[in-house]
Amino acid sequence: MKLNIALLPGDGIGPEIIEQGLKVIKAVCSAFGHEPDFKEALVGAAAIDAVGDPYPEATHRICMESDAVFFGAIGHPKYDNDPSAKVRPEQGLLSMRNKLGLFANIRPVTTFPSLIHKSPLRSDLVDGADFICIRELTGGMYFGRPQGRSEDGNTAYDTCVYTREEIERIIRLAYGYAQKRRRKLTVVDKANVLATSRLWRQVAQEIEKEYPDVETEYMFVDNAAMRLIQWPKSFDVMVTENMFGDILTDEASVITGSLGMLPSASIGVHTSVFEPIHGSYPQAAGKNIANPLATILSAALMFEYAFNLPEEGKAIRRAVVASMEAGVVTEDIAMEGKAYTTSGVGDFIRSVICS
Ligand SMILES: NC(=O)c1ccc[n+]([C@@H]2O[C@H](COP(=O)([O-])OP(=O)(O)OC[C@H]3O[C@@H](n4cnc5c(N)ncnc54)[C@H](O)[C@@H]3O)[C@@H](O)[C@H]2O)c1
Repeated sequence: MKLNIALLPGDGIGPEIIEQGLKVIKAVCSAFGHEPDFKEALVGAAAIDAVGDPYPEATHRICMESDAVFFGAIGHPKYDNDPSAKVRPEQGLLSMRNKLGLFANIRPVTTFPSLIHKSPLRSDLVDGADFICIRELTGGMYFGRPQGRSEDGNTAYDTCVYTREEIERIIRLAYGYAQKRRRKLTVVDKANVLATSRLWRQVAQEIEKEYPDVETEYMFVDNAAMRLIQWPKSFDVMVTENMFGDILTDEASVITGSLGMLPSASIGVHTSVFEPIHGSYPQAAGKNIANPLATILSAALMFEYAFNLPEEGKAIRRAVVASMEAGVVTEDIAMEGKAYTTSGVGDFIRSVICS
């Protein structure tokens, strides 16, 4: 199969971690007989420095013409420390999400037995937790208008808006994931208070009838926040609106023990994007110490979701588990023993896939 992949390394550790992902993608392609074609493009601070735009038109064209986008991270201290900068790396990310119509962010939360000691939760609560958070990404409070301040500056307002169409497409997407997993969907809202949440629940209840094979539960967001830490194993697929998802997915992400481990997929109207959930970790840039596993696991998601090649995804996951079991890991998850470099971990995982 021919796989057209856009590579957007970005800033900070972005290029180093994408390089490891690339090694792994090439190894999987050669093991399974696929033909990858990579097109690299600029994004973030690197793109501002080169052409003055954090998501240049040329990059967008490459993304649109590809089957998947493999993304590193964006962000640079030069912009973080200058709040007055008019053009910012983060605008590149928002622009990409907007132009590619990425309406769903998918974050699998899986625990690895060899990492459980790193979780802030008790190991008996975490061991075996395996669920997916699906966050609506282009609606709700973050995009609703009007937004602003009164003339005297003492009153501020945001607007939360959702349409039936926006809710329907993400609920259907979530049911699709639940059907491929343990067939349980948790719809998270605040229907006892918010009008948008009541529409979410109404639409979800209508669609629920089309999926009798999936158990649907409805949960208020405050309860979901508690349940995530009290009983994370009770979730299979969770779907929620933009702001609730922003908060709950970060809460869920710490369950596994390291930010350097968590992949994500953003699915949309056009090409899907696969990226680690962490940022550009500028303190580590160029030092060959950043954990590449979130990026490598994002490559696994890319094979599964963008190319519908589950066996290739599994091969990557198995190799990642092998690296952790062999202690071939970076300093953020290493035990007292030796920490490996970013490229050392990438090389090991490639060698497991090729063996
Ligand atoms: N999607 C993105 O590209 C994205 C997401 C978040 C932040 N950012 C940007 O990244 C820059 C840095 O932000 P930040 O420091 O808040 O977040 P960050 O995720 O870059 O780093 C936070 C901390 O997490 C740990 N960490 C992150 N990635 C790691 C890895 N691969 N291996 C090991 N440890 C890792 C480190 O301890 C680091 O200090 C900022 O410019 C921010 O705007 C970008």
